[in-house]
Amino acid sequence: MARSALVTGGTGYIASHLVPALVERGWQVRSCARGGRPPSMPEEVEHHAVDLSGTDDLDEVLSGVSHVFHLAGASSSRSSDEEMWRSNVEGTTRLVEAARRTGVERFLYMSSTSVYGEEVQLPVPVPEDVEPCPSRSYGKAKWGAEQAVWRAVERGLAGVVVRPVSVFGPGNTKLLGSAILDVAVERFAGLDKLDVHREPVEQRLVHVDDVVAATLHLAVHPDSTGRAFNVCLDTYPTSHDLVGILADLFSMSIELSDDPECGLPPEERARVRDRMLALGMQDQILLSKERFRLMRKSNLNNRLDIGALTSTGFRFAHSDLPSSIASTVDWYRQHRWIL
Ligand SMILES: NC(=O)c1ccc[n+]([C@@H]2O[C@H](COP(=O)([O-])OP(=O)(O)OC[C@H]3O[C@@H](n4cnc5c(N)ncnc54)[C@H](OP(=O)(O)O)[C@@H]3O)[C@@H](O)[C@H]2O)c1
Repeated sequence: MARSALVTGGTGYIASHLVPALVERGWQVRSCARGGRPPSMPEEVEHHAVDLSGTDDLDEVLSGVSHVFHLAGASSSRSSDEEMWRSNVEGTTRLVEAARRTGVERFLYMSSTSVYGEEVQLPVPVPEDVEPCPSRSYGKAKWGAEQAVWRAVERGLAGVVVRPVSVFGPGNTKLLGSAILDVAVERFAGLDKLDVHREPVEQRLVHVDDVVAATLHLAVHPDSTGRAFNVCLDTYPTSHDLVGILADLFSMSIELSDDPECGLPPEERARVRDRMLALGMQDQILLSKERFRLMRKSNLNNRLDIGALTSTGFRFAHSDLPSSIASTVDWYRQHRWIL
């Protein structure tokens, strides 16, 4: 069978990078999501509007597909716990069953390192073969979805599980993207000092191009099936490091505060954001209620073992965080996602 891909979650952030990368490499690509075809999707891609967790026929969308890249899922930035369970667990369960029926060659599932949980101490750096202990609803839903994949693997599906950490880069509308919007808002409001809580919180990040490269690499690697792979940079900046990088990019200085709720209050941030929108800023990045939401909670299992991935020969191309965050901020400015 020629290589033909189904990318679920085709209207989402990571898919907006993966789909063109597959097309560039000569794959035949089909995409699906509940929503319609995004304007930026390459024209040779066939897009299907499908609810994976509903009653839509999935055999049809899988027909002729050799490789599934299952990216569809709901996360806590925009969805309730019920929606996260429905889209992640029920959607994945239906999709793996259909994939077994239609005989796909490989099924790659985009899970998340949130499956490990943050509260129960696991061996660190966390290897992929520990028993996960997810602590939040998103991690529980991703683990529930993974278990559907592992059950299908036991019954013969050639499954690969990819577990990225927080993904950033052009087009990102949440997580680090929201933190960048927080800084842009405070700079626009005229502040020249960026407050951050005195207690540093260790972070972990990965650039979207590295996630796409790892995904493409593992989708065809001879030894990847039946295995999970952490996808994370091997450097762990603190919240102070990250805020310092952002402060430099907005010509601000960083100030440590004793108040965990430091910075502009939420209503003021919303008002300033409205003024920016009135001046032509695109309403793409999520303004989170909690300023620097990404950097608030510490994680006992923050450090991850990436030996499984690197032993397959994969190398990260975007390990210089200040430079890749700077080019992300440039991209946001060029596209007027921030002013
Ligand atoms: N971004 C990150 O930092 C990150 C980190 C680790 C893991 N991941 C995982 O990577 C995957 C992709 O992430 P992303 O950031 O690209 O997500 P995203 O931008 O939120 O996109 C999610 C996609 O899933 C689709 N979807 C959701 N529920 C669906 C359903 N019931 N049926 C069909 N399609 C559905 C959405 O489209 P419609 O709403 O149009 O249906 C959208 O295309 C997700 O599974 C996520 O959990 C992401």
